[in-house]
Amino acid sequence: MSVHTTSKKITSQHIRSRKGGEPIVGLTAYTASMAKAMDSIVDFILVGDSLAMTIYGEDSTVGVDLDTMIRHGRAVVRACNHACVVVDLPFGDYQASPEQAFMSAARILRETGCDAVKLEGGIEMAETVAFLSARGVPVMGHIGLTPQSINTMGGFKTQGKDELAVQELIAAAKSMESAGCFALVIEGVIESASEKINQVMSIPTIGIGASVDCDGQILVIDDVIGMFEDFKPKFVKRYAQVMPTIREAIETFANEVRTRQFPSVDHVFGRSKG
Ligand code: KIV
Repeated sequence: MSVHTTSKKITSQHIRSRKGGEPIVGLTAYTASMAKAMDSIVDFILVGDSLAMTIYGEDSTVGVDLDTMIRHGRAVVRACNHACVVVDLPFGDYQASPEQAFMSAARILRETGCDAVKLEGGIEMAETVAFLSARGVPVMGHIGLTPQSINTMGGFKTQGKDELAVQELIAAAKSMESAGCFALVIEGVIESASEKINQVMSIPTIGIGASVDCDGQILVIDDVIGMFEDFKPKFVKRYAQVMPTIREAIETFANEVRTRQFPSVDHVFGRSKG
């Protein structure tokens, strides 16, 4: 198995330069232990606001706040010395104005030490992305199925189903590129539409439920290892099923406690009773 093990720190500029090159590998992480497990293998780690669902059990990403993103971002950054770390700007902390977005992004960069922020949206966010980029904030864009807009989209629905929708997505993608994004996540967009977007972009596209032709792919780590069982998006491939292993360990522990077979301290340190 080939494992990417370079120790050189990956920056947002490096990700930007990978358009049309070696595919970019991204995964989400929310904790130091998980970040440590993937840091030498992936190109970038996203501290995604998906943590609202995977860690905190919420129904959507809308409820997470800036302090929570910063706390998890700091834990992930502490564990990384190779992957580029990107932290999501949470809903409500950047849409009001470019100034609000800058204050939130500056807190994230300053208090976590991460490399970049990600925000959702298209043309309506272009002015904000340009404002941030001009002030030293590297921005990853996110178009298509944008989970923070679940209340206006009417659910987690695949995007780009007709020609008008495709043209709107292309316009959104181009506006993010012109505004200064270093890469663009395309989520939940039908394959033919994703390919059309990819073809007109000069910054790397990162697919999640999009096209294999994107310049990279990202998945939510809990989906990859089978930790999140509430639902499985159609495009997700599970690479492991850790939940049965976790349940088995818990059952064994509970059984040992209940049958008084749990090892005593004396047993652990090699002393016998009596
Ligand atoms: O929050 C997240 O995990 C994301 C990915 C789905 C791209 O934004």
